[in-house]
Amino acid sequence: MNMIRGLSVRTYGNLKHQPLVFLHGFPLSQSMWNKQIQEFEQDYYCVTPDFRGLGESVPSTGLHTMEGFADDILFLIETLDLHKPVLCGLSMGGYAALRIAERAPEVFSGLILCDTKSSSDPDEVKLKRAAAIKRIQQDGAEGYIREFVHGIFYPSFLENHFAEFDRYVAQWVKNPPEGVIGALLAMMGRTDTTEALKNFTFPVLCICGAYDAMTPPSVMKDLARLAPQGEYYEVPEAGHMSPLENPEAVNNKIQEFLRRISGK
Ligand code: MLT
Repeated sequence: MNMIRGLSVRTYGNLKHQPLVFLHGFPLSQSMWNKQIQEFEQDYYCVTPDFRGLGESVPSTGLHTMEGFADDILFLIETLDLHKPVLCGLSMGGYAALRIAERAPEVFSGLILCDTKSSSDPDEVKLKRAAAIKRIQQDGAEGYIREFVHGIFYPSFLENHFAEFDRYVAQWVKNPPEGVIGALLAMMGRTDTTEALKNFTFPVLCICGAYDAMTPPSVMKDLARLAPQGEYYEVPEAGHMSPLENPEAVNNKIQEFLRRISGK
């Protein structure tokens, strides 16, 4: 594991291969990409950072913005000297990926958006996040994280893979309250990146769990339609955490997309 300006960054595979940068969702950590790393580390150079304040990144003040998250990821791409990476983000990681690609489109050769959206928070979501911040300040983060992650997984994944789910949650509940609050503030204050999609000249793959209630298929189909080289894929038997809930389907689709980018 490397520390790059306080960000914990894991790298897998051969630096000479096409780089893939994976950005995790809220309030998780890079560990959510384990099943993609197993699949892609052989043929790609995989990079999985923890966002500032989460996972194994250094404890933070909790005063975070999406711009700060974007600064961090662009800095790590430059520091690791990654050439034309493909950027892949889930949900909050997708919000960051969209903003990063809007700021520096020339850096990337492709974008993979999993279970995410380009709109900013409407007022009712801002109020929910403010209530979450108050709760975490009063009671700590653990109860909130447990409840939140239960809500984002596809119910039948929870029934059939409870031990696996439990192992992940045991890691994620260690996220410090300041980091979780910081991520909520960053999401609350993020900009709308819808217009940017129209200008992306690289291929964009939009992946969505068929039962994703948070960022439903209709929303992700629209994202794919906006991007000139956009493609939509619906993941069967999956909700908001499709790369973890149905890794086989997601990995196959990503493989096909990467072959399209590399012309193999
Ligand atoms: C996530 O999965 O990253 C979050 O659900 C995103 C959000 O709360 O908007």
